[in-house]
Amino acid sequence: MAELNSNLPPKELLEHIARSCANALSVAGCSILLLNSKKTHLLHVSSHGLGDWYLRKGFIEADKSLPEMLRGEVVEVTDAGQDLRLQFREMAEQAGIASILSVPLQQNGETFGALRVYSRNRRIFSRRDKEFAARMADLSALVLRQIQSVELTTKPSPENQELKPLELKKLVTFAHPSEEQFARLLDFYDIKWLYEPRSFPLQWQDNRIGEMFTPDFYLPELNLYVELTTLKQSLMREKNQKIRHLKELYPEVEFKLLTRKDYSNLLAKYGCGPLAGAKAEGVARVLFGDAQIEEKVRELGKRISDDYASHSLLLVGVLKGVFCFMADLMRHISIPVAVDFLGISYYADASSGVSITRDLDQSIKGKNVLMVEDIVDTGMTLNYILNYLRTRDPASLKVCALLDKRVRRLVQVPLDYVGFEIGDEFVVGYGLDYQGEYRNLPFIGVLKPTTSVPQTERETKKDSE
Ligand code: PRP
Repeated sequence: MAELNSNLPPKELLEHIARSCANALSVAGCSILLLNSKKTHLLHVSSHGLGDWYLRKGFIEADKSLPEMLRGEVVEVTDAGQDLRLQFREMAEQAGIASILSVPLQQNGETFGALRVYSRNRRIFSRRDKEFAARMADLSALVLRQIQSVELTTKPSPENQELKPLELKKLVTFAHPSEEQFARLLDFYDIKWLYEPRSFPLQWQDNRIGEMFTPDFYLPELNLYVELTTLKQSLMREKNQKIRHLKELYPEVEFKLLTRKDYSNLLAKYGCGPLAGAKAEGVARVLFGDAQIEEKVRELGKRISDDYASHSLLLVGVLKGVFCFMADLMRHISIPVAVDFLGISYYADASSGVSITRDLDQSIKGKNVLMVEDIVDTGMTLNYILNYLRTRDPASLKVCALLDKRVRRLVQVPLDYVGFEIGDEFVVGYGLDYQGEYRNLPFIGVLKPTTSVPQTERETKKDSE
């Protein structure tokens, strides 16, 4: 354990602890698990000797997985397949785990996780075993505290008593840089994520799992799994087959695949990725002409005027793309309206989150607010803004979007008024830009496809699975 006195990164130190603990106790495996901030779920953050499938068997609910742990107790299981205090008994049996010892990880008397050892043989753990495991848990807690940079001498306070879930990210090893970038994008828009928390068995042979699929991300607040792939479309056959299989076997699971092209297009929107800076070769075709837009805006204005008749209304637009639509829409609304604008920072490979670059001039408390957007694409911007505005107590909050690119949605956001639904095409004009240009076109057009995504990224081990 000389490693503990070294400059190794915390993640490697935890791996050393798990390995040393398993070896010293002569058991098959050891894992360090952390509770989320609400103490509802446990997550394996470092382990030794346990198969991928067992580690990613699903969300471990803290009150269904040796819940005595939450009270800081040491818990012993001698027959994992039968013990009702375990959530995944069948899977433990399949993984050949007979006995488990769980000791709490604590800070200032507060439990924030557990160190668990897993034995293939039925085993009654001795007092010495338990003491050893407890010391290993103390060491793990020390390393984790180091990650949190919580001063040991600091007086306990609600802020430093729990490990913030955000910090778990420091323990994640991404298989591919694109995944790390996607995680940063989600962080920017304040969307919670877990990396590869669950494997879905797809095929069984003699009661053993023959094939499984592990989506890259799970977004718990959206209950959505996301798989990113950097594979060329021509190499996607096998993966597509797995995805079809996954959908058949688990129809209740919400799943979104972002192909290499989807992902490059998404990043290009933020000025990142392989298509960043690619020169557009002009407009390929007109999607909606000025007369068509005018008719649609008039129709939206009429519906809004009818719905808000005898109410006051504040239109809030998000800069900049909305300015043409907002200017026309307000002129087709026949009831009195006030207008205001929000500006937000832009994701460009940033590590911090969204910031409001231009705030509203007025209070929206008790007012009827209609958010106006030129386009809703992934839904991440609107989701962030709606959450922001909700904290300011408007009497009502609705959304009017001229364009709805639903096919690319990641976050489901409620749209009350929609002009046109469009496909997965890059549109410009009538306020919408590509790298700052084309906003002044009087129509909405589709850009000529940019040069194809160069094959820059190595295919990962996982992609070729
Ligand atoms: C557009 C649009 C939305 C956002 C929607 O703004 O005005 O605010 O994209 O995208 P999302 O649903 O994927 O979050 P953009 O970032 O192009 O800036 P701009 O309005 O200044 O052109």
